[in-house]
Parts: sequence; C-alpha cells; structure tokens
Amino acid sequence: MTPPRRNVEVKARDADPGRTLRLALAIGASDEGVLRQRDTYFARARERLKLREQDGGDAQLIAYARPDAEQARTSAYRIAAVADPDAVRETLDAALGTRVVVDKRRHLLLYENVRIHLDEVEGLGAFVELEGVAEADSDLTRERELVERLRGELQLGEPIAVSYSDLLLDEPQALLAAADEAMRTAHAPYSQFKVGAALRTPSGAVHVGANVENVAYPQGQCAEASAIGALIAAGEREISAVAVVAEKLDVCPPCGGCRQRLSEFAMPDTPVYLGRPGGPLHATTIGELLPLAFDESSLG
Ligand code: THU
Repeated sequence: MTPPRRNVEVKARDADPGRTLRLALAIGASDEGVLRQRDTYFARARERLKLREQDGGDAQLIAYARPDAEQARTSAYRIAAVADPDAVRETLDAALGTRVVVDKRRHLLLYENVRIHLDEVEGLGAFVELEGVAEADSDLTRERELVERLRGELQLGEPIAVSYSDLLLDEPQALLAAADEAMRTAHAPYSQFKVGAALRTPSGAVHVGANVENVAYPQGQCAEASAIGALIAAGEREISAVAVVAEKLDVCPPCGGCRQRLSEFAMPDTPVYLGRPGGPLHATTIGELLPLAFDESSLG
C-alpha cells in the first residue's frame, strides 16, 4: 500500500479574520482566493472519512487519522479524486450512514508549503488553520518549525484540539450515543443491568463494549473492560475520551476496577462522560474518578 500523505496542523478560533488576513499578506503569503467547501463525514469508518465537494473544484474522498492534540499535530491522509460526487455521497451514506456535514467558506493563502485557511464555518464561526504540507521523506521538523513560526506571526489564539465535525457534533453526545448503541448488545440476564461503554482514541476512532455476564457470576465482565478489549484488538493503546451509559441509571459511575483498567490507557485529564444521549450529563475525568492512582511511578 502507498504510504499516506502527511501534514502538520494547528487550528484556533479567529476573533478578527480581517486582521489575520492583513498579517498574512504582510509577511508575504500569496492570496489563492475563496473556496466554498462542503464536507460530508461518514459513520462507521475506521478513520475519519469525508467527501469534499467544492465550488468550481474537483470532488475528493479523503480518509485521515489525526490525534486530538492542541499543539501542532500531524495528520496522515489519503485522497482519491471523485468523478461523480452525488453518486459517491449517496452510496456511502447508504452503506455507512452520515455523521455530520460541514459547510464552510475558506479563504486560502499560501506561505511556502504552509496553507493558511481563514475559515467561516456554518454554525461555528470564524477559525484560522495552518497546514504545513510535508514532502514524502520529510521528518516533519521543518514543517513543525514553520507552522510554529506562523502561529506566532499571525497571533493565533488558543489552539483547538478537535475537528469542525466534532465541534458540530458535540463530542459528549457522539460518544454517549455510541455507548448507548453498544449497551443494547449487553449479555446481562443475571443482573438485568445493561451497560455500554465507548472509548475515543487519538486517531479519532471509537471502540465500544457491553457487559458480558456469566452463570458463574464472578466471571462476568464490565462494559468498560469489553471496550478496552476492542480497542486493544484494533491495535490501539490510548484512550482520549470515555462514555458510559446504563439502561436503568441516569448516571452510571464506573466500578473501582474499571477506573483502574481505564487509567492504564488514559491520562488523569482524560474526559469521562456519564449519562445517556439527550439526558443529564455528568462530565468528569479519569483523575477525579481515581485520585492517588497506582500507576507506573508507583512501581519505582
Ligand atoms: N457494570 C458495568 O458493566 N460497568 C460499570 O461501570 C458498572 C457495572 C456491569 C457489571 C454487571 O454486569 C452489571 O453491571 C451489574 O453490576
């Protein structure tokens, strides 16, 4: 398989797009004009999968994996040209379902190999995005340095970790919906207490699990443990967000054992969403659920 293309990205809200444009032109960025783009994100994909349609431009199918990190992050992506976007959109929607559609007006500027995006996103507002496009054999040092330098020169605000699609979708609700769907698959004939868990990983993928009970009661397994098994079987090692849903409880606190299990792959500030889709939400973190954790530093 051909290796994916890569870039280094950073994104922030833009309180004053006119000023950012002036700053970009002042440092010598070239004005590449305004594009209208419509990205349709599909569900049930292993990576993020979107069909990009643009005014006047060619349509593309784009698959990408990118960690949700606030600092400049690398994205690995693949692009396929699409000759019949209507048919591809309808086909993928029929097969996978649509997660969300992002409509935006993008003013594109170019500074060396960094794309500067001044975006006006429907329903979200104004953002500025920097994308340092990497050569195939680059170790990304130069791209990172250039993106960092431009971040300073364009006076970007607080970096934003998640994609426009996640901002539109509302991450807690998206994860709770995945946990709720998994909960329906639970095998809980002894307790009649069905639980579902969903784990987001830095690649953007979601792994789910449900509780699996056994007639020999102690052999039962919690939903969180099942979801961790799915995450590991997919070759992943990190949890960036957790959601837990129970059928008979508005807010289901993970048991002590599962707090320890989750903390093996999460950080103290990893968010944990407890609730059900559309219901009351208790948002907490791994660190709050498991203070004074026994972790690697405890081993000495
Ligand atoms: N359970 C979970 O799956 N996760 C939790 O966080 C709490 C409890 C399951 C275990 C058992 O199958 C049932 O709920 C009742 O304890």
